Amino acid sequence: MSIFLGVDIGTSGTKTMAINAEGAILAEDTSAYPSHHPKPLWSEQDPEDWWQATVRTVRRVLRKAKLKKADVKAIGLSGQMHGSVFLDKRGQVLRRALLWNDQRTAAECGEIEKLAGGRKKLIKMVANPALTGFTAPKILWFRKHEPRKYDKTAAILLPKDDVRRRMTGEYATDVSDASGMLLLDVARRRWSKPLLSRLEIDEDLLPRCYESEEVTGNLTSEAAKELGLTTNCLVVGGAGDCAAGAVGNGIVDKGSLSTSIGTSGIMFVHSDDVQIDPLGRLHTFCHAVHGAWHMMGVSLSGGGCLQWFRNRLCAAEFQAAKRSKVDPYQVLNEEAAAVPPGSQGLIFLPYLSGERTPHADPDARGCFIGLTLAHERGHLVRAIMEGVSYAMRDSLAIIREMGVPVREIRASGGGSRSPLWRQIQADTFGQAVHTINAEEGPAYGVALLAAVGGGAFKDIREACAATIQVVQQTKPHKSAQRYYDRGFPVYQQLYRSLKDDFKSITALEA
Ligand code: XUL
Repeated sequence: MSIFLGVDIGTSGTKTMAINAEGAILAEDTSAYPSHHPKPLWSEQDPEDWWQATVRTVRRVLRKAKLKKADVKAIGLSGQMHGSVFLDKRGQVLRRALLWNDQRTAAECGEIEKLAGGRKKLIKMVANPALTGFTAPKILWFRKHEPRKYDKTAAILLPKDDVRRRMTGEYATDVSDASGMLLLDVARRRWSKPLLSRLEIDEDLLPRCYESEEVTGNLTSEAAKELGLTTNCLVVGGAGDCAAGAVGNGIVDKGSLSTSIGTSGIMFVHSDDVQIDPLGRLHTFCHAVHGAWHMMGVSLSGGGCLQWFRNRLCAAEFQAAKRSKVDPYQVLNEEAAAVPPGSQGLIFLPYLSGERTPHADPDARGCFIGLTLAHERGHLVRAIMEGVSYAMRDSLAIIREMGVPVREIRASGGGSRSPLWRQIQADTFGQAVHTINAEEGPAYGVALLAAVGGGAFKDIREACAATIQVVQQTKPHKSAQRYYDRGFPVYQQLYRSLKDDFKSITALEA
């Protein structure tokens, strides 16, 4: 039997999935771990938690699918992008990893632009501007603030690549994830020597770059023992979770775009050539499809906004719902569905972790604007769904403005499992959104890449064509679409009006 595993090192936990050579899912398992926030807007995790969760979920998947260890031919790794794992020469972790949603590096972003000779030159070298979530500013922060530990640094890895190191002993990454380090010459798919030299970062600290389906090594005997697998098992390059999720949605051809509402909110569009937003609002990264690229807009808080609302403002109801075995999101969805489009004038700005696309503003804050005595909890929930959808429309607007064709939108992620949120997306985007047969996200995408690397398919397009079909379409409702077309400029104006006030709030707390 030929079995392939996909392992996704997510922000809230690790998900592992086993598929057969036809791409059918045999079993999956997840294991959660905490994030640490030692200061407001700081976000860190312990790499050891990722490894323990990987071991636990791989073993549980093998048990659930009743697999023999030799059945597993290859593993694909996916993970939260941009995080930084700093290792000394013995492979010991030097500090907790700084994550993609950590916002402490505003000063370092400015420094990088200066060292690169300006924003334009930086974009020319690495296709993207310096953003607080990216890895290069984290490296500069570490060098400046914890110099004694930095001096001991022998390697810098992304989250999934630290798990790869524990699996194979190899220091390797793939081009899609590497793109988010801000150190890759994205057009040429290799490290940018000019930028590395300007930032005085030694290339030897960085992992070797592979295409996503390429084999990066075999399991070591120690890892094979721990995971319950054999040393014949290969580990392929894999992908950052955005590209992996897009592959899992079949976004591997021109004209296809996916929205993903997980912790963040992602708009991801495939491109056969490198297209760069000259204003740097969208990211241009290598795709997990060999020789292709993608553009992407990221709202830092997508589904995370509703999760925050549920956990922090509905804790008692959440516990009660759990006790009576009701999904608390179901309850919130029903309340929101009873509210008309526009939430009776209530607008939510979803900037709970600052914002990336299109504002690149770590000081931006979440807001409910327009509250009246008439508003109930359902209005707040609906306004959250609408605010996140408006934030994603901000990205879609830039994609359309750049003339990138959008033939089909596929909605994915936990948030898109809600029919109401899918409808709000279709109404806000003014275009139908589609769902696929098995929306399984990044773990599925990299399991398919492992199947390609392990020889079950010719390439990733063939793998997607054989396994992924659209099963449902949600068309926009004309009257709601008209409302959101009028609401969108109001939503956009609110950020412009509040921008300076957000800065004053940050200064108040400094
Ligand atoms: C992408 C990004 C996030 C993380 C978290 O640029 O920052 O989507 O990958 O999953």
